[in-house]
Amino acid sequence: MAQHHITKAVIPAAGLGTRFLPATKAMPKEMLPVVDKPAIQYVVEEAVAAGLHDVLMVTGRNKYALENHFDRVYELEATLERKGDHAKLQRVHESTNIADIHYFRQGDPMGLGHAVLQARMHVGHEPFAVLLGDDLIDSRDPLLSRMIAEQTKRRASIVALLEVDPDQIHLYGAAAVEPTDEEDVVRITGLVEKPSKENAPSNLAIIGRYVLRPEVFSVLEHTEPGKGGEIQLTDALQRMAKAPEWTGGVYGVVFRGRRYDTGDKIDYIKAILQLATERDDLGPELRPWLKQFSAGLD
Ligand code: UTP
Repeated sequence: MAQHHITKAVIPAAGLGTRFLPATKAMPKEMLPVVDKPAIQYVVEEAVAAGLHDVLMVTGRNKYALENHFDRVYELEATLERKGDHAKLQRVHESTNIADIHYFRQGDPMGLGHAVLQARMHVGHEPFAVLLGDDLIDSRDPLLSRMIAEQTKRRASIVALLEVDPDQIHLYGAAAVEPTDEEDVVRITGLVEKPSKENAPSNLAIIGRYVLRPEVFSVLEHTEPGKGGEIQLTDALQRMAKAPEWTGGVYGVVFRGRRYDTGDKIDYIKAILQLATERDDLGPELRPWLKQFSAGLD
């Protein structure tokens, strides 16, 4: 991997997860299992794979499940050891020694921008990555390392973009862009949070990966609540895109790989099926069953 100076990842996990109630009544949505691993573990693994071993999780109410998942669990380990079940023990250890994980509690869930602002003290004056737990990026299609390389090269803030159906753009932040001399890298000239189809500047949607310059903190500090009464990261990035002289501007990397949106119920179910059918331990049994099941649907 190319040398870069980015070591920190921030993972906001303090949202209320209302779309998944009642599952998220006493558990953060980032703990929902995708096949047999909580979504957050895939995200931490992705950060580590991109060389980011220092992880700050911004947590909210019900944070204990998250902390426990990345901690030792002596009783369980002792039982598995006694039984000599090394395979399961290995699965337990995978999330314990994965990274250097820190936690910060976001008192009021005042929006994604507010969650990122909580990371200011921990991050300091370096560029850093932000990964959202509801977007899973397939580990076979690395995105974050490409974004880090672009940040290092351009000294700008970088967002991940995905081409979506124009009918879906109202669910995302949408980007107005100009091409650069590099394929799938664009300069962002403006951003709008959740625009109507008619007002969207393009069908390029921001997805949950960012590599940001620390100037974002002073911008967020002065960002008023926007859509939904929340402090929006998109609004801060819009201001940074308009002030490249001191923020370095904002660029987008257009992602063409596999991404699973686990923040939405239908997409969550699709993600589980897609990943499970591809697995060696589950696919051979699941695929024929799924074919038979779907043949019976009208
Ligand atoms: P979402 O808007 O998708 O999360 O935020 P939500 O509010 O939990 O979900 P619903 O719509 O009610 O189901 C995107 C990401 O930002 C985090 C969430 O945890 C999620 O990873 N977030 C959001 C925070 O950490 N703090 C906030 O105040 C808001």
